Amino acid sequence: MKVLGIETSCDETAVAIVENGSFLLSNVVNTQIDIHAVYGGVVPEIAARSHLEVMTPVIEEALRRAACTWDDIDAIAVTYAPGLIGSLLVGTLSARILSIIKQKPLYPIHHVEAHVYANFLTGGVRDESSGVSNYAFPANAPQFPVLALIVSGGHSQLVLFTAHGEYTLLGQTQDDAVGEAFDKVAKIIGLPYPGGPSIAKAALLGDDKAFKLPKARMQGAYDFSFSGLKTAVLRAIQHHVGVGYDFPSYKLAERLDDVSRNNMAASFQRTAIETLVDKTVAAFKDHSPTSVVIAGGVAANQELRRQLAERLPIEIEYPDIRLCTDNGAMIATLGYYRATKAINGATTISRENEVDPLQLEVAPSLSM
Ligand code: KG4
Ligand code: ZN
Repeated sequence: MKVLGIETSCDETAVAIVENGSFLLSNVVNTQIDIHAVYGGVVPEIAARSHLEVMTPVIEEALRRAACTWDDIDAIAVTYAPGLIGSLLVGTLSARILSIIKQKPLYPIHHVEAHVYANFLTGGVRDESSGVSNYAFPANAPQFPVLALIVSGGHSQLVLFTAHGEYTLLGQTQDDAVGEAFDKVAKIIGLPYPGGPSIAKAALLGDDKAFKLPKARMQGAYDFSFSGLKTAVLRAIQHHVGVGYDFPSYKLAERLDDVSRNNMAASFQRTAIETLVDKTVAAFKDHSPTSVVIAGGVAANQELRRQLAERLPIEIEYPDIRLCTDNGAMIATLGYYRATKAINGATTISRENEVDPLQLEVAPSLSM
């Protein structure tokens, strides 16, 4: 079964084709990072317009690279929640129209849940010419119960999956997502957007003990908070360069020397990552999952991988970085599990999760 997945929830127009929830046939991502970088963050109206411009060519390219025509596609999966409303509308309207015209069943997909499914793409590649032949894939699919740490620009949560589609939200951020904190701290200290990769790079040159930053204490055992950490960075920088609270924050970076900038990048990264790892280790001890997976853009962070390897007794497999950040492959993979049912080890097509293309609405702030 071949599923075409469409993802447009934020600033990536992404389409991929996945076979049997396991083989990646193509993965096309048009990122808008350059367009938004000048503003230091995603501008929703510009994002929606850019999706509109490239949606059709990105779909066509995904089909071409997979050597597929619409006759080969069995279903369409599309992100309908959560995300920027204008961006979600471009993807869902495209999917609805295609579902009607091409007569394909349509599956609405929750973006955050889908991030976890990059870990199920274990089949690898079928065709060397598809543009995905240099991707790294996990060797083994996660085994339930699966503890998932989902960390992106919009989400930070710990979820325990007991089966496909069956999960419990153990904890989540009470304010900013961790990726958002990386992005905001980068802006304060004068590093380019997106903040995650630029902070990680600067941190390699810095002393991670140079600035002492607080870790939030939360009521929920697995909840996170990153807003206080971001403010602590702001206050520490104001203090370091010798200005008051009323000094314009966009001017702070000019006063910061490279050594201090790198030191703050390293200190912030260590504190933020330690917070994630503390909660993941606690959830692991309490729930004894068989597998642990890390999903979302922040999964690319090498310090996170290092600390988890040090503190968890089981090994974690990571998908290719291009499957950790936003992509259509994770949408198509979860789409496959929505479109099928495993009964006594045999997989059969099930239409119970299908949506009427005339009825599909977006849900910009729907949590998992
Ligand atoms: O999952 P994703 O591509 O988009 C969302 O659904 O949000 O995640 C993007 C986020 C951004 O906040 C970016 O700064 C962060 O992931 N990120 C990283 C790294 N690479 C990307 N954060 C920390 N370290 C990285 N290496
Ligand atoms: Zn995402």
